[in-house]
Amino acid sequence: MKPFNVYPLQNITPVKAKGSWLWDSNNEKYLDLYGGHAVISIGHSHPYYIQKITDQLQNIAFYSNSVINPLQEELAQKLGELSSYTDYNLFLCNSGAEANENALKLASFYNGRKKVIAFSKSFHGRTSLAVATTNDASIQAHINSHEVIFVELNNEEAFIEAMDESVCAVIIEGIQGVAGIQIPENSFLQLIEQKCKEFNAVFIADEVQSGYGRTGNFFAHQHAGVKPDLITVAKGMGNGFPIAGVLINPKFQAKYGLLGTTFGGNHLACVAAIAVLDVIKEEQLIEKAKALGEKWMNELKQIDGIKEVRGKGLMIGLEFEFPISELKNNLTSEHHLLVGTASNKNVIRLLPALTISEKEIELFNNALVKSLENANIFLKS
Ligand SMILES: Cc1ncc(COP(=O)(O)O)c(C=O)c1O
Repeated sequence: MKPFNVYPLQNITPVKAKGSWLWDSNNEKYLDLYGGHAVISIGHSHPYYIQKITDQLQNIAFYSNSVINPLQEELAQKLGELSSYTDYNLFLCNSGAEANENALKLASFYNGRKKVIAFSKSFHGRTSLAVATTNDASIQAHINSHEVIFVELNNEEAFIEAMDESVCAVIIEGIQGVAGIQIPENSFLQLIEQKCKEFNAVFIADEVQSGYGRTGNFFAHQHAGVKPDLITVAKGMGNGFPIAGVLINPKFQAKYGLLGTTFGGNHLACVAAIAVLDVIKEEQLIEKAKALGEKWMNELKQIDGIKEVRGKGLMIGLEFEFPISELKNNLTSEHHLLVGTASNKNVIRLLPALTISEKEIELFNNALVKSLENANIFLKS
């Protein structure tokens, strides 16, 4: 048997990782500015994280949700405190798509409706509802047909036009990641909150990529001062250990059997997520992401050849006048830097660990300048 071939692969085989660095099977070293799609939040192989998971593994790695697991309580309490959502409840699952699937289902249980409003260039995952609210027909199968309206991001008029009492939920990314770092305006998020209240629709913030401190607040939507009814999290939550969740406003009534999962909230996953929160708090990574991100974006804006620098904290998009595939290949092969792409082919996505150092950022900036000097060569070849 072979792996089902759905991923275009970079020619790198990482075998070891520490902090913001990876080593491949030839012992070549790479600086990781992407964290495997924004997953590495506290740095690869953080010693506290390794210790917590190792200790847990010696005791009990897994049992199902049919027994008492105090680690779920500890995780919910710590997440509530750090995110300032102490009055919300937490449902644990395993991936970002699953978190969105459960949030949309919960919204429909709540108001009995099924029409969803999502936004242009959105990405919410690949399960049935999550992919139906993803603005990319090429990854939707016929069986994924749900009632979804896509409204242009930040188009207040179009949003107001689409909103009425038949809308079940509005789902929006705190900052759009896959789209190439597109930021909803504060006033747009405030309008969504207001209209959802008016029509008793459910406001869902997808913080799968933009959450966990990355943007300089625990959640990106907190920059706008809004409070969504449901918030989905994954990626940075477990620093690589698969875990995800839905933060749920207390107005949603829990009922036995309403939602469920075999693996979600297992002992090892909880301990990984607790370790992440402990490190974010102890090392003040949210404040660090804010300060470092601002400084870095100012530096990037000084570099010739970048059309636009967008982002908040350590969630940054660099848009160029040309498709970035050659530039990205050059950054990786010549300078050993790992960066991300986006659905917008002219955008590089930077989503490093929140523990990245100024020195590592400088290394990237210098290499980018060198690569851009060769940009004409890439364009001709
Ligand atoms: C905003 C957002 N939501 C949901 C997902 C889906 O997460 P997962 O791949 O863990 O299912 C992603 C993944 O890129 C994402 O960026």
